[in-house]
Amino acid sequence: MAYETIIVETRSKVGLVTLNRPKALNALNSQVLADLLASCRAFEADADIGAIVITGSEKAFAAGADIKEMQSKSYVDAYMEDFFSGWEDFTRIRKPIIAAVSGYALGGGCELAMMCDFIIASDNAKFGQPEITLGVMPGMGGSQRLTRFVGKAKAMDMCLTGRMMDAAEAERTGLVSRVVATSDLLEEALKAAAKIAGFSLPAVMMAKEAVNRAYETTLSEGLRFERRLFHSMFALEDQKEGMAAFTEKRQANFKNR
Ligand code: CAA
Repeated sequence: MAYETIIVETRSKVGLVTLNRPKALNALNSQVLADLLASCRAFEADADIGAIVITGSEKAFAAGADIKEMQSKSYVDAYMEDFFSGWEDFTRIRKPIIAAVSGYALGGGCELAMMCDFIIASDNAKFGQPEITLGVMPGMGGSQRLTRFVGKAKAMDMCLTGRMMDAAEAERTGLVSRVVATSDLLEEALKAAAKIAGFSLPAVMMAKEAVNRAYETTLSEGLRFERRLFHSMFALEDQKEGMAAFTEKRQANFKNR
């Protein structure tokens, strides 16, 4: 399938999506959302794919929602189309998604990175929620996800002043999982994705579901949910294979069953 705003490739068992609107620093318009959803849904349906990486250019992961596309909207336009609600569909992708972020991840770009399962950042990455400078506020989850990920003090600071965090601060505050040299970013992200894709896919998907549940529920319900999923894993052939491989001191050969 041909996409207008992204480049889609596969690297063995990893699906790679590169945002590709260089003239607009990968600003996220409605076509990017449509392309991203279609590509991730295709990877979700492809039994050979075990993980997805989303990246941008060296200068910009994405510099935000497309300001030029939204600037003339009225309140009624935004309300009636439930503007930005389509991004919720992206968070329903059940296979793991790594954001490989270089350069600007601002506004919707930062919010898209936070919708992924974890972020690997290059040392030139800059994260921010500068919507306040445009007379608005975050609309794709920034006020909620950033607060949960880095805490109230940093989230308030970023949402109210619009200042950017560099990669070191983003790692220190827990927004990103790892920082790597810019030249190594894609390789490191693909390596992490390939590692995940080598494990049992149902186990990986259940682990993703369980971690995400931690943001939606109480500790006791989350622990119960985790335990039930854990119990269900004893029905997987991959559990038998993984534990047999450990005791037999050999590499596991997972079948995703
Ligand atoms: N939407 C539309 N176009 C954008 C854009 C955006 N978010 N960000 C950059 N562009 C465009 C610029 O308009 C420019 O296009 P032209 O050449 O046609 O003028 C091109 O990309 C290159 O940008 P700059 O010339 O500004 O590049 P720079 O290197 O001087 O600055 C930057 C880089 C600091 C990221 C600057 O582009 C910038 O501040 N961009 C806007 C960042 C922003 O405010 N993002 C939040 C958007 S609102 C949002 O995301 C709402 C939400 O919650 C979802």
